[in-house]
Amino acid sequence: MSHTSSPLLAPLALCLALGGALPAAASGEPVIMFKDPHCGCCGKWAEHMRANGFEVKEIATRELGAIKRQSGVPQALGACHTAKVGGYIVEGHVPAADVRRLLAEKPAVAGIAAAGMPMGSPGMEGPYPAERYDVVSFEHNGKTEVFARH
Ligand code: CU
Ligand code: CU
Repeated sequence: MSHTSSPLLAPLALCLALGGALPAAASGEPVIMFKDPHCGCCGKWAEHMRANGFEVKEIATRELGAIKRQSGVPQALGACHTAKVGGYIVEGHVPAADVRRLLAEKPAVAGIAAAGMPMGSPGMEGPYPAERYDVVSFEHNGKTEVFARH
């Protein structure tokens, strides 16, 4: 997979948000996303992922807590939705670029998470100022590490 330099990503995302043509799929890996039926920002994250070339299947469920436990998401890293892609767990509003890097680098972790609902993260854009947040990787043994800072 070719490496996309990040300075190109912002204008591309803006262009897509304004209704530009969709690029070819960035990744052959579909994203399976589990969310609460009433979650609004979850659908916005799915749109962000689609705008960045991912195929996203949204599954509404009331068993999110059980899914997070089975997926090994540390409680402290929990967010509003849990997604599976390429054998990894992606928890919460993780930027598509981080998911792409995860799939390209294939680190020995269980998944990555953007804990809580950081303002300004993909799907959480709004009237409030964007906040700084970390995307954190986690392993099945509970070890966590900063994967990306935003
Ligand atoms: Cu959310
Ligand atoms: Cu969500």
